[in-house]
Amino acid sequence: SRNVAKNADGVLTVAGLTVTEIAEQVGTPVYVVDEDDLRHRAREFAAAFAGWDVYYAGKSFLCTAVARWVADEGLGVDTCSGGELAVALRAGVDPARIGLHGNNKSDTEIELALDAGVGRIIADSFDEIARLIRLVRTRDRGERPRLMVRVTTGVEAHTHAYIATAHEDQKFGFSIASGNALDALLQVHAASELELIGIHSHIGSQIFDAEGFAVAARRTLGLHAEFAARTGVEPPEMDLGGGFGIAYTSADTPATPAELAEAMRRIVEVECAAHGVAVPHLSIEPGRAISGPSAFALYEVGTVKRVELDGGAVRTYVAVDGGMSDNIRTALYAAEYSATLASRRSAAGPAISRVVGKHCEGGDILVRDEFLPADVTPGDLVAVPASGAYSRSMASNYNHVPRPPVIAVADGRIQTLLRRETLDDILRLDVG
Ligand code: LLP
Repeated sequence: SRNVAKNADGVLTVAGLTVTEIAEQVGTPVYVVDEDDLRHRAREFAAAFAGWDVYYAGKSFLCTAVARWVADEGLGVDTCSGGELAVALRAGVDPARIGLHGNNKSDTEIELALDAGVGRIIADSFDEIARLIRLVRTRDRGERPRLMVRVTTGVEAHTHAYIATAHEDQKFGFSIASGNALDALLQVHAASELELIGIHSHIGSQIFDAEGFAVAARRTLGLHAEFAARTGVEPPEMDLGGGFGIAYTSADTPATPAELAEAMRRIVEVECAAHGVAVPHLSIEPGRAISGPSAFALYEVGTVKRVELDGGAVRTYVAVDGGMSDNIRTALYAAEYSATLASRRSAAGPAISRVVGKHCEGGDILVRDEFLPADVTPGDLVAVPASGAYSRSMASNYNHVPRPPVIAVADGRIQTLLRRETLDDILRLDVG
C-alpha cells in the first residue's frame, strides 16, 4: 500500500507511525488500514469507470468508517446481508446508492431494504421474486423496488484461469443457458409490484484473466438483447460484478482499474453495436481490489520451532498470536500470502519459514512458505501484507479467541475502526 515502507532501522511504518508504536498503543494482533491508500483505490476505480457506477463490495470488509470513506469517494455500497446493510445505513450512505444481494434473503432482510428504500435489490431465485411480490403487496405502501436479476453466464473464473463452459452446478443466480434467466427477467418485467432495472453478472473472485469478463459480458449482453427483442424494452442498467484480482505475493501482477475499464468498455460497445441495442448504464462491484491491498495484519511472534525435513532442510514454524480465526483464507482456499519481519532489521540469513497461528489445529497456517530471517524470535513483530479483504470480515471466534481490532492510520494518527473483542464480549453470549 502507498504509505507503508520500512524505515532506516528496518522497522515497518505506515503513514508516519512505526509498527512498534502501533503494537504499544493497541496491542497485537491488529489489522492496520492505510486510509489514504484505501481511499485512493476507491477514487481510482471511480475515475477509471467514470460514467459507470462503482459499488464497493462490503463483504470484503465493512465498517461504518470504510462505508463513509468509499461513499465520500463517489462509490455506492454493495451489501449481501441485513448486517452489512445495517452498517451501510448507519454510516449514512445514501440508500439509493446501496444494493442488496443474497441467494436466500429473509423477509426481515428484504423489509429492511424496502424500509430504507435501497437503490437496487439483486434477485437470485424464483422463490425470491415471489417473496418480493408478496411482501410489496402485504406492505401495501405503494413501493416498487428496483430489481436486478442475477444470472450465471457459464463463465467461471479463478485467479489466472477461467472456464467459459463452466458447469452451472452452484447455488447462485439464474442460468442463461437453461432459459431460466430469460424467464426470470420476463417475470419481473410482468410484475407491476417490481421495477426491472437490468441484469447482474458476477463470475468469480481474484481474477486476473480479463477474457473471463469479456465472455461474461458478451453472454449477458446477448441475454439483454434477447429480452429487448421479446418485450420491446431495453433494461436501463447492467452490472458486471466484481472479482478483480490483487497481488498477494510478488508473483501476482493484477491489471490496473484503467486497464480493466478500457477492456470492459470496449467489449460492451462492440456487443451493444452488434445487437443493435443502446449501451445500458453500467456498474461494477469491486471489493478485494479496494480493501485488500490497503491493510496488513500485524502479529507478535510467541514461539519458534525448527523441524528437520526429509533431505535435511529445516523448516521454522513461527507461531504468532492470531491465526485461522482472523484469517482463514490460507486454510480454506490454500491462499498465498507473504510475511515480513516488521519490528527490526536482521542480518541473519533467510530460513524456510511457515507462519502459523495459536489454534488447536494443524491446518492453522497463515503463510505457508516464506523466507524469514533465521533469527526470528519471540517478541518480534511479523506483518502479513494484503490482508484487508476477506480476513477480518471472515473472522470467527474459533477456540473462543477474541477477534482482533481494525485500526486506520493517516497522517501519523490512529483511528480505531473496530475495537478489539474481549473475553467479556464472548462470555456475554453464553447465557446458559
Ligand atoms: N459482487 C458479488 C455478487 C459477489 O459475490 C462478490 C464476491 C463481489 C461482488 C466482490 O468480489 P471481489 O471484487 O471482492 O473479488 N471469501 C472469498 C471471496 C468470496 C467472494 C464472494 N463474492 C475469498 O476470500 O477469496
